[in-house]
Amino acid sequence: MSEMLSMLQGAIIGQSPIVYVYSPEEERIVRAIKSIAEPLNLPVTTWSCVTGLDGYGNETQDPVVAIKTFIKDNIQGMIVLKDLAPFLDDFKVVRAIREAYNDGRKNKNRTVFLVCADNIVPEAIKKEIHFLEIPTPDENEIVKIIDEAKQNPELNIPDDAVREVTLALKGLTENEIDYVLHRACKNEGADKDQILDEIFAEKKNVVKKSGFLEFSPPRWKIENLGGLDNLKQWLIKRQDMFTREALEAGVPVPKGLLMMGVSGCGKSLAAKTISSLWNIPMFRLDMNLVFSGMYGTPEEAFHRALKTIESVAPAVLWIDEIEDALGLDESGQRIASHIFSTFLTWMQEKPPLIFIAATANKIQALPAEVLRKGRFDEVFFCDLPSKEEREDIIKIHLRRNNANLEDFDFKMLQIMTEGWNGAEIEQAIIAARTEAFYENRPFAQRDLEAVIGRIVPLSDTMENQIKAIRSWAFTRATPASKYGKSAAKR
Ligand SMILES: Nc1ncnc2c1ncn2[C@@H]1O[C@H](COP(=O)(O)OP(=O)(O)O)[C@@H](O)[C@H]1O
Ligand SMILES: [Mg+2]
Repeated sequence: MSEMLSMLQGAIIGQSPIVYVYSPEEERIVRAIKSIAEPLNLPVTTWSCVTGLDGYGNETQDPVVAIKTFIKDNIQGMIVLKDLAPFLDDFKVVRAIREAYNDGRKNKNRTVFLVCADNIVPEAIKKEIHFLEIPTPDENEIVKIIDEAKQNPELNIPDDAVREVTLALKGLTENEIDYVLHRACKNEGADKDQILDEIFAEKKNVVKKSGFLEFSPPRWKIENLGGLDNLKQWLIKRQDMFTREALEAGVPVPKGLLMMGVSGCGKSLAAKTISSLWNIPMFRLDMNLVFSGMYGTPEEAFHRALKTIESVAPAVLWIDEIEDALGLDESGQRIASHIFSTFLTWMQEKPPLIFIAATANKIQALPAEVLRKGRFDEVFFCDLPSKEEREDIIKIHLRRNNANLEDFDFKMLQIMTEGWNGAEIEQAIIAARTEAFYENRPFAQRDLEAVIGRIVPLSDTMENQIKAIRSWAFTRATPASKYGKSAAKR
């Protein structure tokens, strides 16, 4: 049985006279209520302010009249009041609901459902109302929708795609699923990846409406992340954890990863690679917008952001520079402690199909609670790259800049870039390429050497800070690099 059906049935079995069903999917809810009523031989009567109460005249378009009518005529079975929410600021309507409640307590064969797309239960009748927040279709329902779609000769859903597509469709409403299947599967040759891309695009739209979650396109490949082998291996080992096979086999789903360390060493880049590696959509939470006040108080906005991300699971929630995001200042003092505690509680209870990818630069600012075992599956420390890693990074960026690798002396470049981070290496390569282009020459070793000679790496001016970061991380995190803890000195 689907989650929705068991929630609705629970309310009926519990004999709640008034059930508030919070969901934007009215059609789906009404269909479910009918499917429960039919085998029990119970009638279903619906009401809306346009149609009035089924079987009655236009005067029942008025919600108070409608409620009085079904009480007076002692209508049995299920009564569905559609879109009553806008009338709930009228005390007469609220009073009428209370009367329906009192009458319903005596009359056990009637359940009144208020199906509303907004959650605005009036304080005065909160105690009387049984509240249900109906999630979007679960896997059972999605499988059924896909089976139906497969009957449609116009749609082509390859068999090998069904499992992943089912999982990817979670979080979308029935209409959104229908729409996306029609759009993605209409053309003959659509393969799994194209269909998944369409689904991600639809999820992106859903999330966009929330305002502060930004879709991070699956554009970043892990092959473009140099060094950091321990971290990369960790990610690669988990790349199939979000497939249905893994979920069905009960393999524990990873919860989250924290990457902290020296800036410019590829933490944000590593986070960005997750979505294409794992084939699930990723959203960056823009905490500046949460704090901006544009979306209500930061607490409300944050709560809504977390709810939105839950609704599009499976997904990666990327929180960049979490120390700022959580409102922590340099010394770890909390500027917004409510948000911080909300986040920690949420991390503990969050739905299993949300993976958190967090990065942190000012790691001393992270309070112990964040690092406590069990919150993140792993905490990696990203140090300045070792000489082998620098070579790796140099090659990646040379290739990205269409250089001919044979024209470069990597032993020399390893030595010249001692103490450099990945971002500085990238910058130097771009500068060298630009200069060569300007002089109309192919770009080669001497251009790069000239630029490297002019740049002072951050680690020269920040030696003490970097030392402090290292010694802090030494006992608290796993090195992201396979070359170990002091590799960067080489
Ligand atoms: N290990 C690396 N491999 C390849 N490129 C890197 C690496 N580290 C940094 N870069 C380059 O520098 C840019 C900035 O790095 P970023 O990931 O933002 O660093 P951080 O988040 O650790 O401060 C990246 O987009 C990438 O182009
Ligand atoms: Mg970063």
